[in-house]
Amino acid sequence: MERGWLHGEGLLLCLLLHLLLQGRGDTFAINCSGFEQHGVDPAAFQAAFDRKAFLPITNYSNPVRVNISFTLSAILEVNVQLQMMTSFLWLSMKWYNRFIGWNPEECGGIRKLSIATENLWLPDIFIQELLTVDQAPTGLMAYVNSEGQVRYGRPIKAITICNLDIFYFPFDQQNCTFTFNSFIYTVENMVLGMEKKVQEISNISQNLIQSKGEWVLLSIHQSTKKTTVGTDQYDQLVFHVAIRRRSKLYVINLLVPSSFLVAIDALSFYLPAESQNRAPFKMTLLLGYNVFLLMMNDLLPDTGTPLINVYFTVCLSLMVLSLLETIFITYLLNLATTQPPPMPPWLCSLLLHCTSPMKCCPTAPQRGNKDLGLTLAHLPGLKEPMEFVGKVPGPQEAESNGCPGSARICQEGAVQKQHLVSLWIQFSRMMDTLLFRLYLFFMATSVITVIVLWNT
Ligand SMILES: *[C@@H]1O[C@H](CO)[C@@H](O)[C@H](O)[C@H]1NC(C)=O
Ligand SMILES: *[C@@H]1O[C@H](CO)[C@@H](O)[C@H](O)[C@H]1NC(C)=O
Ligand SMILES: *[C@@H]1O[C@H](CO)[C@@H](O)[C@H](O)[C@H]1NC(C)=O
Ligand SMILES: *[C@@H]1O[C@H](CO)[C@@H](O)[C@H](O)[C@H]1NC(C)=O
Repeated sequence: MERGWLHGEGLLLCLLLHLLLQGRGDTFAINCSGFEQHGVDPAAFQAAFDRKAFLPITNYSNPVRVNISFTLSAILEVNVQLQMMTSFLWLSMKWYNRFIGWNPEECGGIRKLSIATENLWLPDIFIQELLTVDQAPTGLMAYVNSEGQVRYGRPIKAITICNLDIFYFPFDQQNCTFTFNSFIYTVENMVLGMEKKVQEISNISQNLIQSKGEWVLLSIHQSTKKTTVGTDQYDQLVFHVAIRRRSKLYVINLLVPSSFLVAIDALSFYLPAESQNRAPFKMTLLLGYNVFLLMMNDLLPDTGTPLINVYFTVCLSLMVLSLLETIFITYLLNLATTQPPPMPPWLCSLLLHCTSPMKCCPTAPQRGNKDLGLTLAHLPGLKEPMEFVGKVPGPQEAESNGCPGSARICQEGAVQKQHLVSLWIQFSRMMDTLLFRLYLFFMATSVITVIVLWNT
């Protein structure tokens, strides 16, 4: 009997405790009777609203899980000098507010309600790379469903710091990072999760970005990591946004004109070196190239040394080198036609070996002078030596010039000099051709190197 009573009492206690616990569990359930007739009763939510200063959890062993996603809707600017990217994104967050919840069946089927965000606890999620204070618009609303799940979104104009590498400009890709984490909540109180798959975020953003600006969104990748500050650990969500520059503008405005100028410079080697036109022409090209560089300076990045600067320097050096070469050849030709110095025998034999292996040098006197006349006549493509033939002083002239011996010896001397002149001219032409080939080789190598570097 006693036992039975005790048993009964135990049962009662159990029931009471159960009811009490149940009551505790349902403390935060909203009494929504009458909502369908008179609309929402603010008094029913008052208890939940009063707790907005605290984490919306009932069991402090379980942290709030905030699921995050965002949509990148525009890439407004990428500033290399300040190393920052300005973009626009819509941040969306979801979490459970354990103070709010109701039974939709008791409430006329109401499953979600919009509630002004100033009445709710909001997670303090920010982007670590942000350079400015995030100015969220005020008066935003959040959706709360009958299970207490809160959905909240807001726009962010994100001016974020980004490590920009412009070596490959204008064919560069950049990799900017958005790190989402909480200001103060450590992992014991708040963990972060993904609301959507990152692939989905990437696809939606790619479809949404309407601006045909300078940058194309390539992809978004995500990684999770925890940071430790002192003894506290914070949860983080890291997104890597890969963007690529649209390079058409730069190719058309920078690379193509520059290549044209260099091509014309190369072609100007076909202007005859004797015509005196080549040097002024190259000078004009060089001047034009400098003006072009000055005008296009605005299009280039303000800092760093991108490969395109190396390319421009190579083009400029090629032009300067070709001008120097022209000056050198002009000097050689001038020297040859006014006072040809004696030609070193090795050079002479090399020259003759290269052009006409049967002939010999004018410094060999006993080989006879008849050969020399022949040599002159047989030299290919000579014009000026022919002019010199006309200028060869006649016997009378030679005598009046103070030739004491026979005029024939004088004339032979003149023919010999003439031969020397023609050899020097030939040498100049050979040098011109050789240097032109070197120039072409250097140009091809540097252009190929730059192109290969751009493609890696
Ligand atoms: C809900 O509130 C109504 C009056 O607004 C009251 O009659 C009803 O008993 C309440 N229900 C509960 C479960 O507290
Ligand atoms: C709180 O959560 C922890 C871990 O999930 C669990 O072990 C504990 O029983 C919970 N406490 C209550 C009162 O529900
Ligand atoms: C957050 O994501 C996890 C895993 O995807 C899911 O279990 C949880 O219900 C989500 N929370 C909210 C509030 O949507
Ligand atoms: C971006 O950089 C991070 C590290 O800084 C790297 O883990 C990630 O793979 C990079 N993403 C791309 C697309 O290059």
